[in-house]
Amino acid sequence: MELDVFTLFPEAFEWFESQRHVRNALAEGHRLGYVNYRDYTPLTGGQVDDTPFGGGAGMVLRVDVVEAALRARYGADPTDVRRERRVLALTPGGRMLDDALVDELAAEPALTLLCGRYEGFDERILEHFASDRLSIGKYVLAGGELPAMVVCDAILRKQPGALGHEESALEESFSQALDGAPEYPHYTRPAEYRGWDVPEVLLSGHHAKIREWRLEQARERGAGNSLP
Ligand SMILES: C[S@@+](CC[C@H](N)C(=O)[O-])C[C@H]1O[C@@H](n2cnc3c(N)ncnc32)[C@H](O)[C@@H]1O
Repeated sequence: MELDVFTLFPEAFEWFESQRHVRNALAEGHRLGYVNYRDYTPLTGGQVDDTPFGGGAGMVLRVDVVEAALRARYGADPTDVRRERRVLALTPGGRMLDDALVDELAAEPALTLLCGRYEGFDERILEHFASDRLSIGKYVLAGGELPAMVVCDAILRKQPGALGHEESALEESFSQALDGAPEYPHYTRPAEYRGWDVPEVLLSGHHAKIREWRLEQARERGAGNSLP
């Protein structure tokens, strides 16, 4: 799949790209590209934002700047681009990202992610260039770069070959295998630590019982019974 991230800070993604599952996904042929709005601004002095009409604090990312960057990348009117590929504008008030939406996005051949900064996007960007408005939670971060990494991470780790053990992506929190429940608890050595014992069943070697116990734990967590 092809992921294009539009941002003012492409260098912020260097660490992200160094992560093993991301490197694996790229080695499998998936593509992660960046477009810096500032490289294509039609304004002088690298300007990309402006003061809000009606007054108020902060600066707003300009619609003409975002259009220029999208045109430069796709050679088409951005109002048409969103018909060809999903263009996700990252914004706190958007549709909340969850595992079902990640699955949906992971099946797309190409995605564009628009990172906002400052006070956010001129509304016309959201109305006319974006196909989706996406939020990673009900809180506000300084920019769309971390949200874009969250989205790309969640999508790329679903791609075959990204994780070392394919099955680890199949049965984890919120997956269909667990009926959408949080994952069951894991333990490793030592079996006893400060008097905190690993549940007996996990040491029993009885695979059917272990499976049954894990599913029950996941169900309980899903019902909100065991996590603080
Ligand atoms: C400081 S925020 C703008 C917040 C905006 N004024 C508001 O109140 O909704 C700047 C940018 O960070 C990104 N951002 C911040 N929090 C986010 C979240 N929870 N989900 C997705 N994007 C977010 C968006 O791209 C946003 O345009």
